[in-house]
Amino acid sequence: MSAAHIPVLLHEAIAALGEIHGQLVADGTLGGGGHTRALLAAGAQVVATDWDAAAIAAAQAWAPTYGAQLELYHAPYSDLPTILGVRRPMGVLLDLGFSSDQLDDPARGLSYQLAGPLDMRLNSTQRTTAAEILNSWREEALADLFYYGAEELKARPLARLIVQTRKAKPYTLTTDFLATIEAIYPPRLGLKRAHPAARLFQALRVAVNDELTILEAALRGCAAQLAVGGILAVITFQPNEERLVKKVFRELCVDTLDPVGRVAAVANFKQGKKLMAGKAELALNPRARSAILRTLQRTHE
Ligand SMILES: C[S@@+](CC[C@H](N)C(=O)[O-])C[C@H]1O[C@@H](n2cnc3c(N)ncnc32)[C@H](O)[C@@H]1O
Repeated sequence: MSAAHIPVLLHEAIAALGEIHGQLVADGTLGGGGHTRALLAAGAQVVATDWDAAAIAAAQAWAPTYGAQLELYHAPYSDLPTILGVRRPMGVLLDLGFSSDQLDDPARGLSYQLAGPLDMRLNSTQRTTAAEILNSWREEALADLFYYGAEELKARPLARLIVQTRKAKPYTLTTDFLATIEAIYPPRLGLKRAHPAARLFQALRVAVNDELTILEAALRGCAAQLAVGGILAVITFQPNEERLVKKVFRELCVDTLDPVGRVAAVANFKQGKKLMAGKAELALNPRARSAILRTLQRTHE
């Protein structure tokens, strides 16, 4: 059953952006518009993107209420610097991943718990689907995908089994991939552990949409675009995203040293405190469990 998306770390993310009344703020991940509407309510001028045409179409129903206070773009968030052009935002928000509405839609093939086509594309005009990756990547590439993308210790036997299985019958459905995973990890009744298919499906989704490459470009591009004093706030949901955000933020906050180790140029950015959901939010929305909010502020030109 599809649950409407509940915005994660909503108050924390808006508060982390500081005083935004009358300021330009970009929301790179419009989704169901939870964060976007809170930004609008706080009086920000908002530029919002989403790479899923359905999210943009749904927002078009309520966007006119806000008139020129809201601009919508069907685009990846890595395009924000191009969309903004000469405009320098005081805030940029990225609430990563997919919304509950997308994850619970069987036609997208994102959930191992729902039978559907092995598609997983965020943007339906893109060519590569999850089925194409499973049916065409070399065994070593598949093993790397699951080892590095899902920290899967049985990545090699899994990749070998995928290659054997697809010779007999190409992958087309989520249930085909689940059957392969369960041949490696037979389900055990009563076991409380998370099903390995959750992280393996997620790693496949990240590869289909080239999510980490796009995220890195967006982090660097949006940080560079910020006005002095402006804040980039990012909510991550999985270890790979979290590691990347941490690495890029850390790099942007390092001073440049001269050959004898003295500070030649002070970094243009500083990091804020890392935040996670509190008990009250977790009780209402278990999906917030893995969410981490990080912020980066531009301190110099
Ligand atoms: C977690 S949801 C955002 C939910 C939203 N903050 C809300 O409160 O309803 C993430 C959204 O980001 C979008 N998205 C994912 N990757 C994207 C990308 N590379 N560029 C633009 N949008 C993206 C997804 O389509 C999804 O709608």
